[in-house]
Amino acid sequence: MKILVLSGSPRKNGKTAKMTAAFVDGAKDAGHDVVTCDVGRMTIGGCKACEYCHTKGNGQCIQKDDMQQIWPDLSTAEAIVFVSPIYYFTMTAQIEDAIQRFYAAGTIDNIRKYGLILCSASEGVYGAAVKQCEDMANYMQWECAGVVTVNGDDNISDAKLEEAYNLAKNM
Ligand SMILES: Cc1cc2nc3c(=O)[nH]c(=O)nc-3n(C[C@H](O)[C@H](O)[C@H](O)COP(=O)(O)O)c2cc1C
Repeated sequence: MKILVLSGSPRKNGKTAKMTAAFVDGAKDAGHDVVTCDVGRMTIGGCKACEYCHTKGNGQCIQKDDMQQIWPDLSTAEAIVFVSPIYYFTMTAQIEDAIQRFYAAGTIDNIRKYGLILCSASEGVYGAAVKQCEDMANYMQWECAGVVTVNGDDNISDAKLEEAYNLAKNM
């Protein structure tokens, strides 16, 4: 199965990077074809609500930024995994910008499953991100493969890395 991973941290070696790497290892070991996009460090503008995509654009966004690198994989992936730090009780603005640009594509029917990995300092800060993904998945008709959360400092336990690794087995 082809899996697209959107990793939403601007920090290169933080928890998000480590959990992303653990998931990708698991996905490769499970025989999946994985593409990772570090949206946290890409230049992706927010949707401008110009409606070009739904009028003249035939589903194409008028903004030609780093989303150009993501569209081909988004339209061919069979599963998607969002990996993000929690910034002020939701996912980062960088990953949100990428998600909101999905508006151009409408429902993404080639994707059937999604996974979610959230990293934070504190416990119990995941409600908004989890609910957002649930609501988006209801709209898209994606099945949830699992949610993994990790909090605390940058020293992630082997057990948590294993949870990210094992998420790939449910995809
Ligand atoms: C702008 C900003 C906002 C944050 N907001 C929260 C928050 O609301 N709750 C929380 O538990 N941690 C918060 N954190 C901490 C990060 O979620 C945590 O450090 C996480 O590990 C960052 O991901 P990274 O390790 O991939 O960089 C925030 C960090 C930043 C920089």
